[in-house]
Amino acid sequence: MKISILGSTGSIGRQAVEVIQKMPDFFEIVSIAGGSNVELLREQIKLLNPKNVSVKSEQDAIKLQKEFPKINVLFGDKGLVDIASDKTNERILVSVSGKAGLKPTLAAIDNHIDVALANKETLVMAGDIVMSRAKKEGVKILPVDSEHGAIHQCLSNRNEVEKLIITASGGPFRNKSIDEMKNATVEETLHHPRWNMGKKITIDSATLMNKGLEVIEAHHLFDMPYEKIQVVVHPQSIVHSAVEYVDGSVIAQLGFPSMHIPIQYTLTYPHRFEGIETRSFDFIKAGRLDFDAPDLEKFPCLKLAFEAGKKGGTLPVVMNAANEEAVFAFLDKKISLWQIFEITKNMMENHDNILSPSLEQIFDIDRITRESVKKLTKI
Ligand SMILES: NC(=O)c1ccc[n+]([C@@H]2O[C@H](COP(=O)([O-])OP(=O)(O)OC[C@H]3O[C@@H](n4cnc5c(N)ncnc54)[C@H](OP(=O)(O)O)[C@@H]3O)[C@@H](O)[C@H]2O)c1
Repeated sequence: MKISILGSTGSIGRQAVEVIQKMPDFFEIVSIAGGSNVELLREQIKLLNPKNVSVKSEQDAIKLQKEFPKINVLFGDKGLVDIASDKTNERILVSVSGKAGLKPTLAAIDNHIDVALANKETLVMAGDIVMSRAKKEGVKILPVDSEHGAIHQCLSNRNEVEKLIITASGGPFRNKSIDEMKNATVEETLHHPRWNMGKKITIDSATLMNKGLEVIEAHHLFDMPYEKIQVVVHPQSIVHSAVEYVDGSVIAQLGFPSMHIPIQYTLTYPHRFEGIETRSFDFIKAGRLDFDAPDLEKFPCLKLAFEAGKKGGTLPVVMNAANEEAVFAFLDKKISLWQIFEITKNMMENHDNILSPSLEQIFDIDRITRESVKKLTKI
């Protein structure tokens, strides 16, 4: 399988490199792309010997090109798009974070390359456009998120589905009071009980906005109305998600929490191989499994996401952009955790929704929303 990784220096990207290294006979790396972590990218170039590399800034690209004259060094959004358009690829892993994932995903689809999609913002921003283009071009969108990977494995006949059940660990504030959560520090919020992920998604997991983004992602990936998507808090993160069928049968996918398995599933689909995870699942070791309803008073971001998803149009774009910029402001210690919700809600309330937007309108609204949030959070 000829493959490229966008976001190779991130949490998902690094684990994908581990999966790929474990199966050298199956994978051949074509290109890799990172953002600003040039040091790690340099190591990955030596390790993987890619044909093309892309970095965020032109300056870093010039530096790397001098060091590695035999490879083609690209930069910026165009670098990501060029890598994703290269027809040598049979599959592209899109694991950059934030809005940087949308254009390369569309580029891969337009060039008939299957996409292993970790970047959830792509579908939140432009799910209708991305999925209809993928369908038209016959391109597979394989979800890397463990929840959607689980649903992908549990779905046999979509016409007989009663509902999708997406599980959530509940994050670090599941057992804390609403006041403790409102006053949480960045360090406390970054301390996720189950998953070790990038900073943005870790903060989203603490507010349950991540689960909201996943609900919108699931709606687009599996063409499922929001009324048929349920979020269930499951602190052990053993059941990764489930599908209930019309006859009352529920099929769930289980495993110990590890992103290596869902990453490998999307990179090798439709095949399965022994991989980097050698632990066999043990029900007795897993012990008890708990399930609970999410507390929407404490986690109102989840409610916002259902609202944005149901209304559709550009409202999810505003929610995604406002939330992302507010998360960055929280990480910079400019606002409190609770203000992420307040700012996002405020931006959504003041938005004139455009139903069926063009890509240009999506990018415009994304930019305008980010500018407004930046102005609001500047101290
Ligand atoms: N981590 C998980 O377990 C997990 C699970 C499911 C879904 N996801 C989704 O997967 C995506 C990545 O998550 P992550 O946790 O791996 O994030 P992360 O650790 O923050 O990594 C993000 C990656 O994207 C690169 N990047 C960011 N902006 C870029 C830009 N403008 N141009 C080029 N590269 C850019 C970063 O490069 P540098 O680091 O070099 O700057 C890094 O390689 C997110 O959309 C997240 O929601 C993650």
